[in-house]
Amino acid sequence: MSPGGDLTVGVILQAVYSDAFPAPSDNPALHSTHYPDGAVVHYDFQAHTLSTTLPDGTSVTVAPGKVTSNAEDTECTGNLLVQKNLIVNGFVALNAGMNVQAGKEGRPAAVIKGSMHATVDVTAAGISLVTHPHSGVKKGDDESGGPK
Ligand SMILES: [Fe+2]
Repeated sequence: MSPGGDLTVGVILQAVYSDAFPAPSDNPALHSTHYPDGAVVHYDFQAHTLSTTLPDGTSVTVAPGKVTSNAEDTECTGNLLVQKNLIVNGFVALNAGMNVQAGKEGRPAAVIKGSMHATVDVTAAGISLVTHPHSGVKKGDDESGGPK
């Protein structure tokens, strides 16, 4: 803008939003960065929420007390320690074994609701389910003794 047409005293005004070029948000607490590839990073300093969205729609949101990701896959290349409960709604594959400690307050280490299939054997207190013998067995209608 040049008052009186004198360009030597002209000033450059900031762009003004319009219907043709609307503001990216009407929230003054929301700071956004839009990248040429379509990626967007938002931080709302009133809601204390940080979110980022990539061009393919993958997003991560960090909000007070919660991190949410819609990524199809999440990979952790190091150890993962979960201090509280772990709830899995999908299939679990443990590819290198597992060690389950006894539950708190005398609860069992594991409860399986449904059938369990072992391809080799199951051992309980040192007794093999597959190979344990029975004592006091006679052919006939008698029941065997307990497993050894
Ligand atoms: Fe048996």
